Amino acid sequence: MNSHILAPSILAADFTRLGEEIAACESAGADWLHVDVMDGHFVPNISMGPFIVEACKRITKLPLDVHLMIEKPEQHLEAFAKAGANHLTVHVETCPHLHRTLQYIKSLGCKAGVTLNPGTPVGALEPVLHLADLVLVMSVNPGFSGQTFIPESIARVKDIRKKLDALGASAWLEVDGGVNAETLPKLREAGATAFVAGNAVFKYPQGIEAGIKALRNVIARPEGAKQSPPV
Ligand code: DX5
Ligand code: ZN
Repeated sequence: MNSHILAPSILAADFTRLGEEIAACESAGADWLHVDVMDGHFVPNISMGPFIVEACKRITKLPLDVHLMIEKPEQHLEAFAKAGANHLTVHVETCPHLHRTLQYIKSLGCKAGVTLNPGTPVGALEPVLHLADLVLVMSVNPGFSGQTFIPESIARVKDIRKKLDALGASAWLEVDGGVNAETLPKLREAGATAFVAGNAVFKYPQGIEAGIKALRNVIARPEGAKQSPPV
């Protein structure tokens, strides 16, 4: 597995050609596939459920990184696990019994992810950092792809990186929202190890393969990329 993970978010895909677009991601070297689940309550938008996860599972070998932007996620975890999710990430804002929820995700055979909105203090994660397989920093308010990156997210990534290192924790540190060739190097430098990208992959003007290549280049050479024009 690559030391730094690229996870295209299918929320920005053309759903009339979802199979082809996922195949393009896989052949271009994506590491995971990010699936955004929204309920119209926790976030203003409604997107996809276990049915889409199950369909993705049938057409790709990429691990499915499922981001649950839903209230009462514990009621749906089993369905997503059965559908083939590899990682299940829940929001601290939706989980009054966070330890129990993360343990439950592990008992279903999935990697347990935890995330928080840009307006939620980083300290909300602290009690469970030792339990998480993946920590996701939202760098936009969740609900839509194509939003502008919130620059304060970089300091939040640094802060969480320090806390994970102090614990000796090996969790992935993932960032989601407005990640592109301009923002990615700063996040990598701050200590992020996994990058979700919707628009920067699926809406890249020269196509999905070129979008993935552009992000891979800045992952490989973050210093040189600082001079490159933004995507
Ligand atoms: C936002 C979602 C993101 C989104 C990212 O609520 O969680 O995964 O699809 O899209 P971009 O990369 O276009 O900001
Ligand atoms: Zn997401």
